[in-house]
Amino acid sequence: MDEECDYLFKAVLIGDSGVGKTNMLSRFSKDEFRLDSKPTIGVEFAYRNIRVKDKLIKAQIWDTAGQERFRAITSSYYRGALGALLVYDITRRSSYKSVGRWLGELREFGGEDMVVILVGNKCDLGESREVEEEEAKEFAETEGLFFMETSALKNLNVEQVFLQMITKIL
Ligand code: GTP
Repeated sequence: MDEECDYLFKAVLIGDSGVGKTNMLSRFSKDEFRLDSKPTIGVEFAYRNIRVKDKLIKAQIWDTAGQERFRAITSSYYRGALGALLVYDITRRSSYKSVGRWLGELREFGGEDMVVILVGNKCDLGESREVEEEEAKEFAETEGLFFMETSALKNLNVEQVFLQMITKIL
């Protein structure tokens, strides 16, 4: 851990393949976006130092493949994670339907006090929307999750969603 850092946090990204996890992470860690990004194979992670509530946080964010055959070992992926962004694509209802399955995995392998944010990504594609914001918001409330819509493409709410997660962990 860096000397000047007050905390080191691990957080994970989960959700179906193609929902935009890798681009959310590259937006947050390097302010980059790729239209032609390839499916993640195995696991990757990125760091960003961020000042929240006067504390310097080193956020270590893990990103794994949504595709089962490319996934890393599940238990080690979740080990020590204090936060999770559970991402679906607002234009792909099937990715929203998978949220329950991802929650099951989170609850099996993640810690009890993990901060979980349900994230509806690709909100720039409103004309192709298949999941209403209100529906997801209500679901999040009943499950005790936070909720936000984002666009990694337009850089909408990406910083805010990571910041919200870190703030709730602190
Ligand atoms: P896996 O690694 O297979 O699990 O996928 P992933 O969830 O990491 O998705 P990825 O970030 O690779 O993005 C998949 C595709 O969606 C890419 O073509 C991205 O350019 C596109 N994409 C990601 N975020 C957005 C967004 O906010 N808006 C739009 N329009 N496209 C996006």
